[in-house]
Amino acid sequence: MKEIKIPGWDMGPVYFFDSIGSTSDYLRELALKGSRPGTVVWARKQTEGRGRRGKKWFSPPGGLYFSVLFHSPQMIEPSFSLVAAGSIIRVLGEKIGLELKIKWPNDIYRKSSKVGGIICENLSGKLIVGIGLNIDPINNSKIDSDYSPGSLSELKAYPSEEVVGLILSELDKDFKSFQEEGFAYFLEEQKAHSNLMGRTVRINCSVGRVVNYGSRGQLILENSEGFLREFWQGTVVLLEEG
Ligand code: BTN
Repeated sequence: MKEIKIPGWDMGPVYFFDSIGSTSDYLRELALKGSRPGTVVWARKQTEGRGRRGKKWFSPPGGLYFSVLFHSPQMIEPSFSLVAAGSIIRVLGEKIGLELKIKWPNDIYRKSSKVGGIICENLSGKLIVGIGLNIDPINNSKIDSDYSPGSLSELKAYPSEEVVGLILSELDKDFKSFQEEGFAYFLEEQKAHSNLMGRTVRINCSVGRVVNYGSRGQLILENSEGFLREFWQGTVVLLEEG
């Protein structure tokens, strides 16, 4: 492990590992020992990378895997995963020209392939945000889930410190706005960046068309009889191509 400098990030130390189990697990240990907000753990590869809902996150060299620590007196709502996805796609859109979308509640998509994911974990007054982005193509057989993995190979043209620095700065800014204003501050941008709006999906055994987001990030579906139902969590399956 070595401590490195990342352009534009002076909020806390950045610890870079050649190989680690999981950047979020290591950062959790640091947080429990009292590490300051803004501490970042970044690794070239992970051997025990974790995805949502107990899934593995395949983390070979060539991707970006990092976790950042924030402090917050109140518990941070799960909708911050959506906001973090928004920070990433804003940076990659504005600086690199990539067209990416957010698949509720925490995935980053490029067309119909998943290129990144986020896990937010609360830890009494602290929040660990773990981010994984695929840069090199990944074979479907390596994925512990039923999505098709995509890649962000354009990022290879940029120093990875620069990309991680831009994402961290944007995330920090958005974390402050989220604490002050909540998800509602991001609502219109989130709807514009969603790959689900207007599409028919299945979530937790319910089928319907996504017609809106709630002010706290809930997904609002309209069923075939015109009834609305909101969802706070779950895995979404798209039933039609966009
Ligand atoms: C998901 O889509 O299920 C979320 C994937 C999050 C993966 C990142 S990689 C860095 C951090 N460390 C982990 O073990 N997981 C997150």
